[in-house]
Amino acid sequence: MAAAIRIFDTATEAAFWVAGAVEREVRSAEDSDGHAVLGLPTGATPAPVYAELVRRHREEGLDFSRATIFNLDEYWPMQPSHPLSFARSMKERLIGPVGIAADRFHIPDGTCPEEEVDEHCTRYRAAIADAGGIGLQLLGLGANGHIGFNEPGTSPDSIARLVRLAPETVERIRGQHPDKDVPTHGITLGVKGILAARRVIMMVTGEHKADIARRALQEPETPDVPASFLQRHRSAHWVFDREAASALDLRSLPVEIAE
Ligand code: GLP
Repeated sequence: MAAAIRIFDTATEAAFWVAGAVEREVRSAEDSDGHAVLGLPTGATPAPVYAELVRRHREEGLDFSRATIFNLDEYWPMQPSHPLSFARSMKERLIGPVGIAADRFHIPDGTCPEEEVDEHCTRYRAAIADAGGIGLQLLGLGANGHIGFNEPGTSPDSIARLVRLAPETVERIRGQHPDKDVPTHGITLGVKGILAARRVIMMVTGEHKADIARRALQEPETPDVPASFLQRHRSAHWVFDREAASALDLRSLPVEIAE
């Protein structure tokens, strides 16, 4: 296993490091005359990463014009104008502010009719392959151990598809948006597609993620905790704030600890 762990005092410091890793990916692709292909998550965890990237774009000239983005997931059915839409969230927080062109921002289509979803997912996977594969995949950790919308019970061989959200995921969304009809399905990259990225950075912040992070990293891999399949990735970084790392047994981790 080639995982490395970094623990920072605060989520802000963790986000600063993750933003630096994204910047290096973008700049190194540019230096080699290519284009960076980033796999990005939505959710609360990466919000400070995206804010820091926007700052670097505005104040330091970090140029995203040759970066290509593949979003990890989207609710289904979902209109892109809906307040819960991941497409809307990503456009507002990152894509618009750093000026990524519409044809370089890819996200599963929450408006796709059910009978066309399989074909849509096949095209999504083909678009990733045509772009050269994902160079850097950022991830957040679901409170139940999901990655993307790969809920407990997901096989490591799963590919991009329409999934029913786990009851606890639906409840969490309902808790965050008590005034709205909440989605019950999503379209997500599969675990196989996530593991195909050349590098993965999993960012985990907050005490409420501490126990599930320990299970994902320190118990044998299992479909019950889909994030545990990252143990088999050759280049996976786990980036924690102090609270999220509080349940880890740091002595027994067979990984590099870089603080
Ligand atoms: C959500 C999304 C993921 C996200 C994860 C963690 O349900 N499907 O893309 O990474 O759960 O979300 P958060 O960062 O808000 O805790």
